[in-house]
Amino acid sequence: MADITVKGLTFEPFISHEEIAKQVERVAAEIKRDCVTECPIFICVLNGAFMFAADLYRVIDMPNSEITFIRYKSYEGTHSTGSVKQILGLQEDITDREVIVIEDIVDTGHTAQRLRDDLMAHNPKSVKLATLLFKPDSLVEGDAPEYVGFSIPPKFILGYGLDLDELARGTRDIYALKGNE
Ligand code: IMP
Ligand code: MG
Repeated sequence: MADITVKGLTFEPFISHEEIAKQVERVAAEIKRDCVTECPIFICVLNGAFMFAADLYRVIDMPNSEITFIRYKSYEGTHSTGSVKQILGLQEDITDREVIVIEDIVDTGHTAQRLRDDLMAHNPKSVKLATLLFKPDSLVEGDAPEYVGFSIPPKFILGYGLDLDELARGTRDIYALKGNE
């Protein structure tokens, strides 16, 4: 795996697609083990989680479950703006349903908390969060996600769904900004 350059910034290989696939399998098994109903609804948070959600949902393979999509935005460039905007809302009725939110990454926790608050207002049976990546040292709001693929240091990363200003979402491996602490 070689470095890649996006918008003049250099990114180095950080997590390979083989490692991602392994953790997707583990997280899928944990979610299946914990489900108390046969018809949970999975909510993929666009745009960043689309690739993780597709892989995870395929492995979870629960024929009586549903998947849907919502969209929130909080990042500009390589930093969180601190304010979370809902771009596309929920159309489905989640009253009394088991909800599993699929996120790409939990950084400050602002988005995750906003999601939990918005979803809890619809009176679901439960809301749990599955994230591919978690930066525990950056968390300033809310609890740790229930399911985590990888806990990572507070680096800026991209690829496998994650972007830098909408670029580089399509790589199958994950990259980290070089020299970024
Ligand atoms: P939070 O609200 O600060 O937890 O950030 C959550 C959102 O910011 C994630 O869903 C991502 O879309 C984006 N984000 C956070 N960290 C990164 C990163 O390292 N690379 C790309 N996007 C990120
Ligand atoms: Mg996101």
